[in-house]
Amino acid sequence: MNRRIILDCDPGHDDAMAMMLAASKLNNLKLEAITTVAGNVDVEKNTNNALRICDLLGLNDVPVAKGAAQPLIRKMKAAAHVHGQSGLDGTTLPVEPFKQIVKQHAVDLIIEKIIDSDGDITIVPTGPLTNIALAIRKEPKIIPKIKEIVLMGGGTYGNRTPAAEFNIYVDAEAAKIVLESGVPIEMFGLDVTHQALATSDRMMEMSAINNPVAKAVMQMMNFYSQIYQGKLGFTGAAVHDPCPVAYLIDPTMFEMERVRIDIETKGEFTYGMTCVYTNGMTDREPNANFARTLNQDKFWDLFIRSLKSYS
Ligand code: RIB
Ligand code: CA
Repeated sequence: MNRRIILDCDPGHDDAMAMMLAASKLNNLKLEAITTVAGNVDVEKNTNNALRICDLLGLNDVPVAKGAAQPLIRKMKAAAHVHGQSGLDGTTLPVEPFKQIVKQHAVDLIIEKIIDSDGDITIVPTGPLTNIALAIRKEPKIIPKIKEIVLMGGGTYGNRTPAAEFNIYVDAEAAKIVLESGVPIEMFGLDVTHQALATSDRMMEMSAINNPVAKAVMQMMNFYSQIYQGKLGFTGAAVHDPCPVAYLIDPTMFEMERVRIDIETKGEFTYGMTCVYTNGMTDREPNANFARTLNQDKFWDLFIRSLKSYS
């Protein structure tokens, strides 16, 4: 049975790669909806990007709904320095998408899909958690019906500040609502996504794949790698957002640890920090499975086979 998912994203190069993995016929996932949220760039731009990527992937039947334009409390802080002004710089995809969004707001579409389900839908956030928090607050009846929230965000260190990872930093109040909701959570933070590096030998292998999806993903990868290898000094681009999707396809490639995660929402310098308490550090109940390690060969084998599946 295909695992039913809602992908809530802020495309974003690595969000686009997560969509590629999720949409591949090779994999056992059924995309029920794609929802967008202000994050890497403003929600207008990243919604346009989500539609452009749906055109590329042939996702004609998957509803795309636009979501929150601002975090719950703080003002939006984008990441154009990583993804470019468009949020998807470096690609030659048609600027105007063919696909259109649905009229519903993302939060309402998430609520409708979850309420109408048998409790078998997993939400996969790869951007700030604003939409998920709003859905939980607007309709608490969805809480027992969300199978799992499998998210990219957080970590025991940060990339937007020394303490905070970008997706959590943009809307820590939303992250706090989600982490305290009681919904089963799998968190893929920087500790593991920084192990998913597109090194030059993997880039070489991917550049030999001759189909439009692989060519577009390589354009994204080349742009994204310039930032990670150039400005940030990595040995390859860290493809964060495909990690939670890869977990749903093959959980054996990750080692997870049961932990307590609390979100800092008040710290002057630590706002957005995911405080990861391991065994015995706190008497507060564990509330998440936290990804510690990634089997890189398994991850890239899946990523490359998925790219080839579009031939
Ligand atoms: O910190 C990495 C996360 O921030 C990824 O989801 C990337 O797309 C950006 O949104
Ligand atoms: Ca993202």
